[in-house]
Amino acid sequence: MIRTAILISGGGSNMVRLAESMTGDHPARPVLVMSNRPDAGGLFKARDMGIETAVVDHKEFEDRAAFETKLHEALLAANPDVICLAGFMRVLTAEFVQKWQGRMLNIHPSLLPKYKGLHTHKRAIEAGDTQAGVTVHMVTPALDDGPILGQARVPIHAGDTPDDLAARVLTAEHSLYPAVFRRFAEQLK
Ligand code: GRF
Repeated sequence: MIRTAILISGGGSNMVRLAESMTGDHPARPVLVMSNRPDAGGLFKARDMGIETAVVDHKEFEDRAAFETKLHEALLAANPDVICLAGFMRVLTAEFVQKWQGRMLNIHPSLLPKYKGLHTHKRAIEAGDTQAGVTVHMVTPALDDGPILGQARVPIHAGDTPDDLAARVLTAEHSLYPAVFRRFAEQLK
């Protein structure tokens, strides 16, 4: 069984899709859902699904290194084989990433390498793009830069607001992440 930790900061809709997909003959199971925000809606959803949860509130630490030391400790306690970042909004340092490199995935709401960072939908619309999308990639020290494992495209319609586009991309995220993660987990078996 491939022990999987899922890191979130918000509502956790991707976390729910990932966790729901890890059943039956799926080689992985969720062993921890952890957040840097104690009020993250996804924590309540994970508890309702019977998944262990933990909080490491970044606001309680004087700096990123102290926060990441605690984050790493909490992860080691769950002993995951793989980490899925699912709407986890803290930028991780190279030092932290190197400890989990090759077994940490992230989902990013753009067609990388375009629009690394934030406000991806607003930037795609302002650039006059006709397509947007989502990328699942391996996490490496450079932000949103790791090897791409899968992508899905969605159209940008005339008059789309960033929220319209975000909703359309989120739907694509919900099918892409479980599919890509299953493939990744299968090759770890
Ligand atoms: C998603 O759009 C994800 O791509 C981005 O943050 C959002 C998280 O949504 N990184 P949720 O918390 O999974 O609903």
